[in-house]
Amino acid sequence: MATPASDAFVFFGATGDLAYKKIFPALQAMIQSGELDMPLIGMSRGGWSLERLRERAHASLSANGGVDEDAFARLSELLHYIDGDYSDPATFQHLKQVLGSAERPIHYLAIPPSMFGTVIKGLASSGCNSGARVIVEKPFGRDLASAQELNRELHQVFPESSVFRIDHYLGKEAVRNLLYYRFANTFLEPVWNRTYVDSVQITMAEDFGVQGRGAFYEEVGTIRDVVQNHLLQVLSLLAMDAPAGRDPESLRAEKLRLFRAIRPLRPDEVVRGQFRGYRDEAGVASDSQVETFTALRLHIDTWRWAGVPFYIRAGKKMPITSTQVVVDLKRPPLRIFDDIPLSETNYFRFRLSPEVVISTGARVKKIGEGMEGRPVELVARSTRNGGKSPYEQLLGDAIEGDTTLFTRDDSVEEAWRIVEPVLPDSHGNHALPVTLYEPGSWGPEAANALLGAGRQWHDPQPESSHPC
Ligand code: BG6
Repeated sequence: MATPASDAFVFFGATGDLAYKKIFPALQAMIQSGELDMPLIGMSRGGWSLERLRERAHASLSANGGVDEDAFARLSELLHYIDGDYSDPATFQHLKQVLGSAERPIHYLAIPPSMFGTVIKGLASSGCNSGARVIVEKPFGRDLASAQELNRELHQVFPESSVFRIDHYLGKEAVRNLLYYRFANTFLEPVWNRTYVDSVQITMAEDFGVQGRGAFYEEVGTIRDVVQNHLLQVLSLLAMDAPAGRDPESLRAEKLRLFRAIRPLRPDEVVRGQFRGYRDEAGVASDSQVETFTALRLHIDTWRWAGVPFYIRAGKKMPITSTQVVVDLKRPPLRIFDDIPLSETNYFRFRLSPEVVISTGARVKKIGEGMEGRPVELVARSTRNGGKSPYEQLLGDAIEGDTTLFTRDDSVEEAWRIVEPVLPDSHGNHALPVTLYEPGSWGPEAANALLGAGRQWHDPQPESSHPC
């Protein structure tokens, strides 16, 4: 299935934040597991030296999981550094020279999207694109038109099969388990449809704010930052049909079919909120209309899902940090015993972070005379962590040429099509109002009205508080 592995790893933005937080720890982990043994070429415009980059790598590992001195020694040996302006052909000539006899380099663009075009051209004119793959970081565009433009630019130099668009959510063990659990079990499929499912909720709550990234957040807001990518990807894995084959393209084809069936968002089905205090953050306008919270309702026009609402809610400064999916089943058709509230019907719960939990909500009779019940959860899987980090997983897959966990050009464009009607215009003006909410709350009240009669949001709770 996979094509031959890459033989040199080039990362643009080597002195940046992403390299510090995610890339060096992933490289160390891959060296530890014996998966990585090739030149690692850091590129930057920062005016640094190789020694300084090594020190930075060491600091990065100390701060993010710890240094394994043996693996670090190997990383230091493999590391190269090229300093230069990305618009200067000499930078890429230098890269070509350092690549030497490498035939299948992989170029990771861990840089702002505004620089993608310049780097892609530099790679092409120096011949560094020959036999190469390219990894592109999120955000992939800021609306449908810019994503299409970016795809055009990429495709002038790289065929789609060599392009790896990263969405780190897809590298999470829990998200991969969601896909596995759905298609490795028989008992889900009969109920996984409009006949039995009442509604689906995906909540991504974070108890922190924008963490010094105010200027970045002003440019994106929650819908662009996590809905268009991470949460629509989770939704696609939940709702897609079974792939026709084991190969990556079969999976990606089913995801595309699903995306195509999702209606574009309607402004009256979207709530935007902003936590009180956001406007005091560095880099944030004093009258900012950017959302730090959103709740929305989606419709999927397929035979499987017609009429079943899919709700997504994401926010900063929420009461807890947790991402969770709840698939609520309909009530039993007749009320034979007690009255079961819809929020206590059968459900499937997938906790995606920080814990990995897969459970099923059921009811059992309370001990005693009456025929009254109480909710319990049957837990199929519960762990705090384990497995590879998302970046270790995804960089390893890209090096191997396995596209399964990467977003294809057509799907990324479809995802933009879905959110496009509720994005601000090109001047940054929002048609939809933003409502302030208190830090530590579950966002504006209006989010509740989206759900419709009898339903309520399943606010993620500390894992220990679930009934068993
Ligand atoms: C990033 C967003 O893509 O994902 C952040 O830019 C968000 O705003 C982060 O906090 C969440 O990722 P994780 O893996 O910590 O849940």
